[in-house]
Amino acid sequence: MPLLALSSIHKRYGSNLVLNDVSLDVETGEVVAVIGRSGSGKTTLLRCINGLETVDEGSIVFDGKPLPPGGSELRELRRHIGIVFQSLNLFPHHSVERNITLGPTTTNKLPLLEARKIALDVLREVDLEDKLHAYPSQLSGGQQQRVAIARALAMRPRLMLFDEITSALDPELVGEVVKVLERLATSGMTMVLVTHEMGFARRTADTLVFMHHGRVWEKGPPRELFAAPKTPELESFVRAVLEPND
Ligand SMILES: Nc1ncnc2c1ncn2[C@@H]1O[C@H](COP(=O)(O)OP(=O)(O)OP(=O)(O)O)[C@@H](O)[C@H]1O
Ligand SMILES: [Mg+2]
Repeated sequence: MPLLALSSIHKRYGSNLVLNDVSLDVETGEVVAVIGRSGSGKTTLLRCINGLETVDEGSIVFDGKPLPPGGSELRELRRHIGIVFQSLNLFPHHSVERNITLGPTTTNKLPLLEARKIALDVLREVDLEDKLHAYPSQLSGGQQQRVAIARALAMRPRLMLFDEITSALDPELVGEVVKVLERLATSGMTMVLVTHEMGFARRTADTLVFMHHGRVWEKGPPRELFAAPKTPELESFVRAVLEPND
């Protein structure tokens, strides 16, 4: 049984059909990279997966259970699905430690001492244990994104969603965040990531999903899709985004 199963989901904003018959299975431990042009529905897809948006048709099944429509059941489920966005992930008025312990102590009701131990553990996973008492403004953008990843990991999620988390970073900071993502992927974390980092997608993803006009236009092992796109849409996308050394 896949950890996550999307069956024929449709999502509309008014008359705009943003997700059009999207089906996708994600196995435990699988790394899925989602690519596609601006407006193709990538962010909407992630927001539907963790219940930030509701779908109009189709079903989303996580760990064998349909996504609850809302309320405490959905909040309970969200503990297992971490999400990191492109920007504005951290509370600026809290220390790194407090940013990380907030979820475990409130949502997961862990004692503070235990949450602090987790904070140190997850900061080690992103190589930032020395920033425990820093504030977000004292960190680089890359470090802030790594703390955001650590904060999501502190909830011990079973699925991680990443939405272009390196897109707002200066080029020289992208590498350190990609390194953390690669390590996480190798450790067996199940991940769905929207990314513009094609080299990273090719190296790390088990499955590449190319979204176009709200549809899964092409899907398969990244090397195959990059080497031999089946549709002109993917072909022109790949030509536009691939860098010579990717
Ligand atoms: N809250 C919203 N209300 C109305 N329309 C929306 C909303 N969010 C997204 N859309 C529309 O849905 C479509 C898909 O948007 P989405 O953000 O999912 O695209 P994307 O693939 O993530 O694009 P990008 O690469 O620019 O981030 C776009 O046409 C967008 O304008
Ligand atoms: Mg987006």
